[in-house]
Amino acid sequence: QLDPLPPITPEFLTILNKVCEQCYTDFAPDELELGVREHILRDLETFVRRQFAGAQLQLFGSSKNGFGFRQSDLDICMVLEGQETIDDVNCISIIESLARLLKKHPGLKNILPITTAKVPIVKFYHVRTSLEGDISLYNTLALHNTHLLASYAAIDWRVKVLCYVMKVFAKMCDIGDASRGSLSSYAYTLMVLFFLQQRNPPVIPVLQEIYDGKKKPEVLVDGWNVYYFDDLKSLPSRWPHYGRNTETVGELWLGLLRFYTEDFDFREHVVCIRQQARLTTFNKQWTSKYIVIEDPFDLNHNLGAGLSRKMTNFIMKAFINGRRVFGTPVRAFPAVYPSQMEFF
Ligand code: GTP
Ligand code: MG
Repeated sequence: QLDPLPPITPEFLTILNKVCEQCYTDFAPDELELGVREHILRDLETFVRRQFAGAQLQLFGSSKNGFGFRQSDLDICMVLEGQETIDDVNCISIIESLARLLKKHPGLKNILPITTAKVPIVKFYHVRTSLEGDISLYNTLALHNTHLLASYAAIDWRVKVLCYVMKVFAKMCDIGDASRGSLSSYAYTLMVLFFLQQRNPPVIPVLQEIYDGKKKPEVLVDGWNVYYFDDLKSLPSRWPHYGRNTETVGELWLGLLRFYTEDFDFREHVVCIRQQARLTTFNKQWTSKYIVIEDPFDLNHNLGAGLSRKMTNFIMKAFINGRRVFGTPVRAFPAVYPSQMEFF
């Protein structure tokens, strides 16, 4: 059971807030670093076109969604001009020949095609910048969810700060690596956005539920509706809660840890950012997992599907410890990050 938290002092909230803001300023890349990413992309595109004449490369993921770190990987999606989609067999054979081609690129190392994954990719390492990256094909939904996340980030700067804090927290607690059985950064970002939508008053709206008229517009991609309201300039007149939440990021961060440890019933409910109303695990027939996070567009995709029971417990323990650490007043601004403090 959860220990009760001591009273939170205003002084401590100030400290907590500073820690959160510091996390953002320490880890966010600057314009220059974002420019470097675009430069690598253009160079790769030119190179790839030697063999794939109509190839178009696009960055997605955290290079574009507003929650990137200096050392975040380069997520690249490739499409071929004049070709709408690609079948699985073709996809694997292109990935393999793309890997052979990239091996000849002098600036890259460790080229590795991964054709058994749900989304086949070629991994690479960019020597000069020490950035890792991968190229996938026709990963169109990921491009759309990247834009959706970027829109949420643009609504309120606290969204950005909290998503950074969450990612740092996940990395430090070793619960943020999907390739090692935990959850992806993307999953944690969805958890932050859901919390901010459910806060009272909410910090952000549900963009997928704002539209003119009675019926939600349909914009189909791979069979899923990727519509969301992206005219952010007119959000103040379209969303009655606009500007009503005035909490600091420090308060919100502690609020988030408390929400997922004290309020949110993982057994009953789905972390779901596409609707304001609570969605149940029963509705989705996703009752065999404890942490259930629905992708905002691919509604068959549960981001928590790959979690073992052991990993689920490990993640929940990290949140419980986080609640205690960030919810217990200290007198001064910590000089080091929690990983170096005695976190567990
Ligand atoms: P970092 O690289 O850790 O900074 O964050 P990231 O957001 O780039 O995460 P990652 O590299 O793991 O994934 C890249 C992008 O792929 C995400 O931003 C999403 O757009 C997309 N993505 C990742 N995982 C999934 C998934 O399980 N389902 C879907 N539909 N998209 C995903
Ligand atoms: Mg990434």
